[in-house]
Amino acid sequence: MTTTERFQVSVEAAELYESTFVPAIFAEWAPLLIDTGRVEPGQSVLDVACGTGIVARTAADRLAGTGRVVGLDLNAAMLAVARRVRPDLEWQQGDAAALPFPAGAFDRVLCQMALMFFPDRAAALREMARVAAPGGVVAVCVLAALDRQPAYGPFVEMAVDRAGPAARALLSAYWVCGDPDELAATVRAAGLEVVESRTHLGAASFPSPEALAETEVRGSPLVDRISDEVFAWIREGAKEVLRPFTGPAGAVEAPLRGLLLAARVPGG
Ligand SMILES: C[S@@+](CC[C@H](N)C(=O)[O-])C[C@H]1O[C@@H](n2cnc3c(N)ncnc32)[C@H](O)[C@@H]1O
Repeated sequence: MTTTERFQVSVEAAELYESTFVPAIFAEWAPLLIDTGRVEPGQSVLDVACGTGIVARTAADRLAGTGRVVGLDLNAAMLAVARRVRPDLEWQQGDAAALPFPAGAFDRVLCQMALMFFPDRAAALREMARVAAPGGVVAVCVLAALDRQPAYGPFVEMAVDRAGPAARALLSAYWVCGDPDELAATVRAAGLEVVESRTHLGAASFPSPEALAETEVRGSPLVDRISDEVFAWIREGAKEVLRPFTGPAGAVEAPLRGLLLAARVPGG
């Protein structure tokens, strides 16, 4: 199975991502990343691992009909939804580690909440640096490490207590490149000059603590390793650990800390 085949999800899953996860989690970060990347009218912008396209379409709104926006993702279903929402933008299937564009093709290269999933992050950053023009900017956004997450940190500790120590690695995908020094070092190794690195405390919204637990467990390999009883016990535990973030009507606003980094391509 190729990398492209492994990453395919159904159009239904991609529509659920767009209707549920984009508003609940990802939309907040798009304007922050676009500010960090210093996107301005007239520029050409690439959104790497665009998913259903929240960064690309927010950038297009910022460009207000000028310039060019391209969204690239491995996943055909994500791109189908992106195209349905914004048929006027360019959407292209491809791998972040082998970008199908010539050197220097874009003024800005943006990548939101995806670097952690790339098997070879250094190669992907080298590719982003290659397709950005001299003097251009590569900007990335990832989640901070679990020990800097006020809600997800305690949630994962509780899940590990209940499901056993193997659960830690199974729930770790989102948090693996959240060390700011390591991230900056990988970006510099790709030949880029870091010009800004900061954290932002955002929030993930869920209708209930159980809904957050469902999303985390079902979105990870843990779901196939635990019994229904342990899953129910984790849902119960979520009510306790997420109480500080649960409102009177039961909805959760879980703080989510992210890293935003901008790097300049030498020259230009
Ligand atoms: C959590 S989503 C983030 C999507 C989007 N940037 C957003 O903010 O909503 C991660 C995305 O990375 C894509 N992806 C994973 N590995 C990839 C790769 N090697 N090349 C391109 N896209 C990839 C997935 O298909 C998925 O759409």
